Amino acid sequence: MIRLENIHKRFGDLEVLKGIDVEVAQGEVVCLIGASGSGKSTLLRCINGLESHDDGRVTIDGVEVDRRKPSIHDIRTSVTMVFQRFNLFPHRTALENVIEGPIYVKGEPRREAEAHGRALLDRIGLATKADSYPASLSGGQQQRVAIARALAMRPKAILFDEPTSALDPELVGEVLAAMRDLANDGMTMLVVTHEMGFAREVGDRVLFMDGGLIVEEGPAESVLTDPQHDRTRDFLRRVLNK
Ligand SMILES: Nc1ncnc2c1ncn2[C@@H]1O[C@H](COP(=O)(O)OP(=O)(O)OP(=O)(O)O)[C@@H](O)[C@H]1O
Ligand SMILES: [Mg+2]
Repeated sequence: MIRLENIHKRFGDLEVLKGIDVEVAQGEVVCLIGASGSGKSTLLRCINGLESHDDGRVTIDGVEVDRRKPSIHDIRTSVTMVFQRFNLFPHRTALENVIEGPIYVKGEPRREAEAHGRALLDRIGLATKADSYPASLSGGQQQRVAIARALAMRPKAILFDEPTSALDPELVGEVLAAMRDLANDGMTMLVVTHEMGFAREVGDRVLFMDGGLIVEEGPAESVLTDPQHDRTRDFLRRVLNK
């Protein structure tokens, strides 16, 4: 479904992506790990055109991601993103945050968007918080609203960029649980994460990125427990000993 071929990206003199090839099949959960600055966020942002790439090709179900083409609007609604910081509108309730995109970007009738939005909030255990404002929700609840918002667009795939790393440790579990449910329901997911337990349990595959390249990839279990490259081994040793 998602295909990146030989993606290069530079910021001025800095080459951040140095020829990346990635494929994510429908229903697959792929976890992307790697040190800070290795290019993980940039890679995700190139997939839905939040960032332009300098070379190579990104396609979603065969449609090329090109920020200059009108098709980019469809791509941004079919591949949605959940960020480290939830980016909810503070002056809108949870439900209003969730239905904003469907109504204003996709033109869904309000009544339909609300019914779908309430069902999504229910699904992530926040049915009673539909009318609450973000400030009155915990970080974990806000992040679950952000997940409901990403789902409200009825996406083909969701990209997660360290969705739990801004949370207090005791709130991480509820967000990972919501993501696990999504994965079990067959959602296609590409997840940048430092949660190795999640990657191992939920990830079908793990990609290890270092210095703008995918250094190692394979089934989650084998990359995480029996890495073949020194750089992967060093990285895992550092994150697991934290
Ligand atoms: N808009 C930008 N302009 C200039 N440099 C950038 C920009 N965005 C990212 N970079 C640089 O590109 C490199 C990769 O950044 P990126 O955010 O993709 O890394 P990351 O792997 O997501 O790191 P982290 O784990 O800290 O989130 C970094 O050196 C960063 O400083
Ligand atoms: Mg990042």
